Amino acid sequence: MKPFHLNQQQYQEMYEASLANPAQFWDDQAKKYITWFKPYDNVLEGSFLEQNIRWFKNGKLNACYNCVDRHLPAKANQIAFYWEGNDPNETSQLTYQTLFTQVCRFANILKQKNISKGDRVCIYLPMIPEAVIAMLACARIGAVHSVIFGGFSSEAIKNRILDADCKMVITANIGFRANKTIPLKDNVDEALESCPNVKNVMVIKRNETKTLWHEKRDFWYHDALQSVADDCPYEEMDADSPLFILYTSGSTGKPKGILHTTGGYLVYGAITHDLIFNHQANDIYWCTADVGWITGHTYTVYGPLTNGTTSFLFEGVPNYPTPARYWELIDKYKITTLYTSPTAIRALRQEGDEWLKNSTRESLNLLGSVGEPINPEVWEWYHEKVGNNQCPIVDTWWQTETGGILISPIPGITPLKPGSAAWPFFGIQPDILDDKGQICAPNKMGKLVISQPWPGMAKTIYNNPERFFDTYFKDYPGYYLAGDEAKRDEDGYFWVLGRFDDVLKISGHRIGTGEVENALLNHSSVAEAAVVPVPDKIKGESIYAFIVLKNDISVKDTLKQEIIQSVRKFIGAIATPHYIQFATGLPKTRSGKIMRRILKKIANNDIKDLGDTSTLADPNVIQDLIQNKLPLK
Ligand code: WTA
Repeated sequence: MKPFHLNQQQYQEMYEASLANPAQFWDDQAKKYITWFKPYDNVLEGSFLEQNIRWFKNGKLNACYNCVDRHLPAKANQIAFYWEGNDPNETSQLTYQTLFTQVCRFANILKQKNISKGDRVCIYLPMIPEAVIAMLACARIGAVHSVIFGGFSSEAIKNRILDADCKMVITANIGFRANKTIPLKDNVDEALESCPNVKNVMVIKRNETKTLWHEKRDFWYHDALQSVADDCPYEEMDADSPLFILYTSGSTGKPKGILHTTGGYLVYGAITHDLIFNHQANDIYWCTADVGWITGHTYTVYGPLTNGTTSFLFEGVPNYPTPARYWELIDKYKITTLYTSPTAIRALRQEGDEWLKNSTRESLNLLGSVGEPINPEVWEWYHEKVGNNQCPIVDTWWQTETGGILISPIPGITPLKPGSAAWPFFGIQPDILDDKGQICAPNKMGKLVISQPWPGMAKTIYNNPERFFDTYFKDYPGYYLAGDEAKRDEDGYFWVLGRFDDVLKISGHRIGTGEVENALLNHSSVAEAAVVPVPDKIKGESIYAFIVLKNDISVKDTLKQEIIQSVRKFIGAIATPHYIQFATGLPKTRSGKIMRRILKKIANNDIKDLGDTSTLADPNVIQDLIQNKLPLK
C-alpha cells in the first residue's frame, strides 16, 4: 500500500483553514497546482445572491499549457496515456512529448479552419486519444469545446450545436461498441442539415467503411495533418474565460449548456484529483468515464493531466469480449486507481465472481465510485472481490455543475461507511434544508445545498443566466441548490438518495423526464406522455412511460417498438423506456398539470396511499392505471 498524501493532523489543519479563511486557502492551492502567466488580483469576489462570483480575477493561464507543456522538462518521456480500443488488439500510447506535438498539430488544423479564441467547437468522438487531443487543442487556442457523448442521436446533436452556435464539428467516421458499430459521421450529417453555421467537419478515420462526403465541408484529420507545423503557441486566457460547455439534463425538456471557466475549474480539478485519488508518481490511473460526461472532463482529462499523471484510456465496454475485460485490463496495465460507476460494478458483479479468477488485481490501491448512489452490498463486493480488501473506496458525490467532487472520503483519513459519500471536501459547506429553508436535524431527509462558492462551480448556463439563477439559486436564497435529496447522520456523513426534481439517473447517465416525454410526444400516435423512474437492479433506475394514444389510434403489436425507436432517434439509446403502459388518461390537476407523484407510486406498486387525489380533474383514471400496471422485472 502506498503512503497516503495527508495524515490526520494535516487534514484537520487544512480543513479548518479552508473554512476559516477560504481566500487564503484557495490562494495557496491555486499557486501550488497551477502555473499562472500573470497572477490574479483577487482570489474570490461576489456572492450567490448577486450572481457575480469571480474566481482568480485577472489571472492569466492556459489549461492546455498546464496539462501538457509545463510537464515537458521533467516528464517528456513519461506516458500520459496508455490506450486500448474496443478490440483488445488495438493499443497505443502517448508520452507527454507526443501528446504535446499532437495537440499542437491539431490546434494548427483548427486555426487553419479559422477557429479562434471564443469560437465553439463540437466534439462527437469515441474514446480514442484524439478525443483528449481535440479538447486540449481547443483549450490551447482559447476555443470553447462542447463535447457530445457518442451515444446521443442526430436530433440531440443538432439541438446542442444550435444552442452553442458551434462553427465546427470533430467526429469519426464510425465508432465501435462491443460488437456494434455506431455511425457517428452519419449522425453528424443528419444533424447538420439544420445547422448552417457549421462550416467545417473534421473526420477521424477509424476504419475503411465508406463514408458519405460533403466536399466543401468535410475533411480527413490524417490529410490535414500533412500540412501543419509541430508547434503552436498557446493563448493567454483570463481565469474567467470559458473553457467548455457541457450539456446536461434538468427538470424541463431542454438540456442546459453548463459553462465552465478556466482558472477555478482547473485549480479545483487538480486538487480534488490529487487528494481524493491520493495521486502519486507511479500511478497508472484509470477513470472509466467517457469524455462526453463531466467525469470524463474533470477526471479523465483535466484533473489528471494538470497533475502530470499517467492514465489509461479505454474505448470499450466492461463486458466485451467477456465480463473479465476490466479485470484483465487492470492486470495488463498495472492499474493502481480505478474510478468507475455503480452501474458498471453492479453489472460485473451480476456476471459472477468466476470472471475475477484469472486476474489478481494486486496493482490496485484505490477504488472510486461516481454518478449514483452505490448500494452497500455492491460496495462490499467492490471492496472485497475487486480490491482484495486492500483498497479504500472513495464514493464521490458531485455534478456537472459543480465541476469537481464536493463530498467524498479522503483515503487514509476518513473512516468509511459503505453507501455514504462521507464528508465535504476542503472549503465545501453543504447543508440539508427542509422545505421552509431550515437546517434539518441529523438523519432527517431534506434538500442538499452548498452555502459557499467553490472554485470548480459552473459560471452560468450558456446564453441563459436567468435559467442558471432560477434553477440553482432562487428557491433557497444564499445557497446553491443541488437537486438531490440527502441526509447527514450523527457523525456528519452525507447520504445522497437521489434527485428530487424530474431528473433520472439511468446507468448513471443524467436524463430529464421532460426530454423523454418530448421524444415520446414526437411520435405521431402519442397524445400524452409521462415518465417516471422505477428501480433497476443493474442500471439503478429505468424509465417507466405512461402513454395516452390519440383518439383514432388502436394498440397494435409493433407500436411499442415504434415508440421506442422514436425516443432513440430523438435522444439516443440511453433514454430507451423499459416499460410502456398505454392508458386512457393521466392524473392531472384541474389546471392540466400531470401529477407524476401519483404515477411514480403506481409504477412502483406503492398504491396503498396515493396521497391527496382530491385536486385531480378526473379521479377515475386512477383505477384504469392501477389495473393495467406492468409488473416490474
Ligand atoms: C448523482 C455526475 C449518489 C446525484 C458526476 C447528482 C450521486 C447527479 C453520486 C449528478 C454519488 C453523483 N452518490 N448520487 N456518489 N454522484 N450522483 O451531472 O443525483 O451527471 O445530482 O454528474 O448524480 O449527475 P451528473
